Amino acid sequence: MKTGGNGISIAAPAKVNLFLDILGKRADGYHDLRSLVVPISLADELVLENREEGIDVWCQGEGLPAGSHDVLPEPAHNLAARAALLLREATAFPGGVSIHIRKYIPVGGGLGGGSADAAATLVGLNRLWKTGLPVERLMELGARLGSDIPAMVYGRAVCMEGRGERVSPVACRWPAGTAWWLVIVNPGFSVATRDVYARFRTGLTSSEETFRNAAFALERGDVGLASFSLHNSLEATVFAKYPLLKIVADKLKAAGALGVLLSGSGASVFAMAAGLDQALAIEEKVRRDAGPWLWARVAQVLPDGVMVAHGPLEARV
Ligand code: C5P
Repeated sequence: MKTGGNGISIAAPAKVNLFLDILGKRADGYHDLRSLVVPISLADELVLENREEGIDVWCQGEGLPAGSHDVLPEPAHNLAARAALLLREATAFPGGVSIHIRKYIPVGGGLGGGSADAAATLVGLNRLWKTGLPVERLMELGARLGSDIPAMVYGRAVCMEGRGERVSPVACRWPAGTAWWLVIVNPGFSVATRDVYARFRTGLTSSEETFRNAAFALERGDVGLASFSLHNSLEATVFAKYPLLKIVADKLKAAGALGVLLSGSGASVFAMAAGLDQALAIEEKVRRDAGPWLWARVAQVLPDGVMVAHGPLEARV
């Protein structure tokens, strides 16, 4: 990881949940869950530039809702800006920062885009400002802003429990040359996580065996077993409200995917493929079926290491 004098650029990878089990509702209104989360190669790009004071944020790019290619969000409403504020408060750092975000991850898509930006801001600023907080402390700060952020600060394959704040690494011992390829489809509208959880009714927990299979598949790099043990407790709730997403999932299955699942609380659906060639073929098929408007991307799972997930950080003048 390299930092320049005045700023750095950092990748903020999206995530998918290969397994997401909701275990019950908590007294604080959140839900206890257990989820296997992996970073993927679809990423936003952030540039963090030192300034003497103040924190501002610019967003540009194709991941934003249609028609809003350039926006200047209120710092109070942007997770990356809030992460910068929180880190500055926690470390009493005297300076400020300009955050430029090029969005490639669809907003409100269940791919953790906003959380990824916040996680990358915490990791990147901690380096740029030389504030030296250990990763556990960055994860704690992230947990105050959103349930997915601790896992994304960690930046590799993890099991996430509690509300999301308990994160343990999944040791991935994949045979050399193993790669998992996904096709991600986003319908072009966003889904509010809070609304999905409010609609969710318990009762759809997965079996212990499915979890063990999913974890084992992730450890060993076994894409067939992983596809077979995909699970998301929120999927039925989201498909019931947005039937189009069920149609997308069925189309991905019909196109030959090994397994298909809603990512997080949606609206994105992902398909697992046997290899890159199959992923490209599935992408082409669903695009041909649905029309050129369809947002579909081929991406790779990045199982191991913060350096892979958050890198490369490049020096900027
Ligand atoms: O933590 P985050 O801001 O991402 O969560 C958004 C909403 O999703 C929360 O307000 C809550 O309604 C719901 N949620 C939940 N249980 C979780 C995570 C999120 O009920 N573990």
